[in-house]
Amino acid sequence: MNGKQTDSHIRLDGVYKQYQSGAERLTILQDVTLSVDYGTTVGITGESGSGKSTLLNLISGLDVPSSGSVYCDGHHVSHASETDLTEYRRSSVGLVYQFHYLLRDFTALENVTLPGRVAGMDVHAARERARRLLHRVGLQDREDHEPSRLSGGERQRVALARALMNSPRLLLADEPTGNLDENNSRTVEALMFELVEEVGATLLLVTHDQDLAQRCARTLKLSHGRVETA
Ligand SMILES: Nc1ncnc2c1ncn2[C@@H]1O[C@H](COP(=O)(O)OP(=O)(O)OP(=O)(O)O)[C@@H](O)[C@H]1O
Ligand SMILES: [Mg+2]
Repeated sequence: MNGKQTDSHIRLDGVYKQYQSGAERLTILQDVTLSVDYGTTVGITGESGSGKSTLLNLISGLDVPSSGSVYCDGHHVSHASETDLTEYRRSSVGLVYQFHYLLRDFTALENVTLPGRVAGMDVHAARERARRLLHRVGLQDREDHEPSRLSGGERQRVALARALMNSPRLLLADEPTGNLDENNSRTVEALMFELVEEVGATLLLVTHDQDLAQRCARTLKLSHGRVETA
């Protein structure tokens, strides 16, 4: 899926997202045009329902725009086949959401290892990398714990480690600490910024916390379907 190549990591061109709701047509994103350079951290804010998660879903290829184009890392994401999208998501994108979606019957180590195995990594190499990542997020003593035997902050740290397993060039974080207390939020946030900087990844971070958004190099606000510089 070698779509139009761009120098930017992410580019949206005239993107609309609309939903039909009974007789009414809801316009969630309206003619959004946006470029994000490689290695940039971007904080995204906006009222509930303003389309923040929709925007991330369009970039990760989980959703398609009503019209317009989405490019990411040289891929024409909005017009890719399902097979190409699976490969793109596996190799280029890490996702961390408000609710961690860890597999509940798998240990922390297994959860982190899995994306590596799915991507074709050798079992030993995948385990080693997963171990290093768990160590990096301070959970070397929790490898064998299933999610039910981890605290909320620990689960989010496992989710962060899992998102970084395949060294994605892009980390999409949708209120990754929205579910945590103040202390745990700070720990997970600090780790996220540290790890993103270490590998020079691009970060798109959706948050209701203005201070957190301000820690990013760039801040955007979604309002009435449009993206404004915050
Ligand atoms: N499948 C759908 N059908 C109709 N409307 C939808 C659908 N999915 C989302 N919407 C609407 O799109 C709007 C944007 O949703 P989105 O999840 O992107 O908001 P958000 O900015 O992430 O909000 P929050 O801060 O509450 O997470 C909402 O008003 C929602 O009701
Ligand atoms: Mg949302």
